[in-house]
Amino acid sequence: MSFRELAEARRTHKEFGPDPVPRETLLELLDVARFAPTHHMTQPWRFRVLGPEALDALKEAAGEKESGKLDRAPTLVVASAALSGDLVQDEEDVCAAAAAIELVLLAATEAGLASYWRTPGVLRTRQGREALGIPRGERVLGLLHFGPPAREPAPREREAAESYVEFLP
Ligand SMILES: Cc1cc2nc3c(=O)[nH]c(=O)nc-3n(C[C@H](O)[C@H](O)[C@H](O)COP(=O)(O)O)c2cc1C
Repeated sequence: MSFRELAEARRTHKEFGPDPVPRETLLELLDVARFAPTHHMTQPWRFRVLGPEALDALKEAAGEKESGKLDRAPTLVVASAALSGDLVQDEEDVCAAAAAIELVLLAATEAGLASYWRTPGVLRTRQGREALGIPRGERVLGLLHFGPPAREPAPREREAAESYVEFLP
């Protein structure tokens, strides 16, 4: 698969097969995160793979209504950016961590896995953060879902490059 084909093949999946991603595979996917660009080499990306206890704790923090959505994928990974408190550096570090996340999603796609970058409200709450032991200095960027694909997403529609690219004189 060319890089372009890979970028196009990464889709948001909301239905997954039941098999968790093996630990070794996950480590390989998460290993590509470190190739993301990082200003001042802060390498701010952090990933926490949820085990059963962590998932239970997060579900409890989410409450009954929301917790069902945490069962959609067999493997969940919280992605965050470790911040310093410096406004400019923090902005760059959030960007670097987001770039790292996309690399991981692409690696998952290449491995034939379905993925989903979700930002559930519970990870914006004190209870949700405490359930996973996320320290104050980290900005949670998403709950990444991984697993076998269960259904092809509907075809995507995107604006052509001409609509967002400008060549300045
Ligand atoms: C930062 C970020 C947060 C997202 N959070 C959610 C979310 O909470 N719920 C959701 O359904 N999709 C979420 N998405 C996924 C987008 O909805 C999805 O990328 C979009 O529908 C385009 O589909 P595609 O990923 O298949 O191209 C998020 C994407 C990004 C980049």
